[in-house]
Amino acid sequence: MREAEPLSLPDSPSQPLSWEARAGTGKWSLCTCAAAANIAAWPWHCRRGDVRPGSVTSFDAFKREWRGGRVTGVDDRLLLSSSFGAAATAYAEHRPDYAQAAVRWALELVPGPRVLDLGAGTGKLSATLVALGADVVAVEPDPAMLGELRRALPAVRALPGSAETIPLPDASVDAVLAGNALHWFDMSVAGPEIARVLAPGGSLAGLWNVMDDRVDWVAGLERVSGSAAIGPRDTLSSWRAATAGMLVPSSGLVGFGSPEQVEFPHGQRRTADSLVATLATRAGMLVMADQDREATLGGIRDFLASRPETAQGEFTLPMLTGVLRVRRPEKIDQSLGPGC
Ligand SMILES: C[S@@+](CC[C@H](N)C(=O)[O-])C[C@H]1O[C@@H](n2cnc3c(N)ncnc32)[C@H](O)[C@@H]1O
Repeated sequence: MREAEPLSLPDSPSQPLSWEARAGTGKWSLCTCAAAANIAAWPWHCRRGDVRPGSVTSFDAFKREWRGGRVTGVDDRLLLSSSFGAAATAYAEHRPDYAQAAVRWALELVPGPRVLDLGAGTGKLSATLVALGADVVAVEPDPAMLGELRRALPAVRALPGSAETIPLPDASVDAVLAGNALHWFDMSVAGPEIARVLAPGGSLAGLWNVMDDRVDWVAGLERVSGSAAIGPRDTLSSWRAATAGMLVPSSGLVGFGSPEQVEFPHGQRRTADSLVATLATRAGMLVMADQDREATLGGIRDFLASRPETAQGEFTLPMLTGVLRVRRPEKIDQSLGPGC
C-alpha cells in the first residue's frame, strides 16, 4: 500500500478541511471535519481505529491515488457519506424537499414538538419540519452543508455533529428524523446514541425520496443512469427491501417497537438540465472519476432528450417519500441487552 505524500497541517484548527485522508497503521482512514488540524480532537469518522497522524493529503490527492487503484482497504461508506460537501451549493439548489404527509406520519404520536434532524445537510427536511411547526434542531457533520443550512434557515438551531456523536443532552428530543441520511450512519454506534437523546415515547424515522419506477420513462432513466446515480434506495420498487433492516434491535435500538414502512406521493418540478444536475449530487456520482461522471451524465442527458415526457420544458418527476419508523416505548426495560 502506498503512503500519501505528506502535506503540512493547517495552522489553525478553525481552517476548514472538509476532506482528509490519512495514512494510518496499515490502513487508510477518511475523515470529514472542520477541526482537522486539531489532531487530539479528530471527530466522528476518524475517532475509531488506530490511525497514526503524520501523513495527511488533500482529498484531490487522495482521489488521484484512489482512482489509480493505489489505495486499498478504503471504506466505501465513509468515502461516499462524506462526499456531499464538495457539492453543497448544487445540493441546496437541486435536491427535493419531503412530502409533508410523510413527515407528519413520521411525527405521529410523538410526545412533544422537539425534533432532531440528523444528517440535516443543507436543510431540506428541516425546512419541511419548520413548515409543520416543529421545534427543530439540526445536526450535520459537513461544514459546507451546515453552512448552506444556516444560510437557508437562519432561525433553526444548527450544530456540527454526527449520528455517532450527537451534541445534545439525554432525552432532549421527541423525535429523531433523518432525510436520505440514515444509511450513512454507523448504527452500531449511532443506535445507542439516538436512543440516548430520544425521550420516552419518541420516534426515530428515516425518510427517503424515491423515484416512481412504475412510470415507464422513470424505469428507463434508472436503467441508463446506473446505480451510482439511482441505486436500490432510490426507487419505489426496491427502497423497502434496501432499508428494512436498518432499525432493528441489533443496531442498539433496544426495546424499540417493530419497524414500519409507508410511502407518500411526492414530486419535483424539473427540466432535463435540472434533473441531470440533481443526479450529479448523488454520492456515487460525486466520488466518480471525472471522465466516468461526464459519460454517465451525458447518457442521462441523451435519454431525457429522447423521451417526449422530458425532452422539452418543465415536467414533474414522479416521486414518493418513503418512511421507515420505529417508536421508543414510554418505559424501557433496561435489563434487555442488545439483540433482545
Ligand atoms: C444525502 S445527504 C441528506 C441531507 C439532508 N438530510 C436532506 O434531506 O437533503 C446525507 C447527509 O448525511 C450526512 N452524513 C453522512 N454521514 C453522517 C453521519 N455519520 N452522521 C450524521 N450525518 C451524516 C452528510 O454529510 C450529508 O449531509
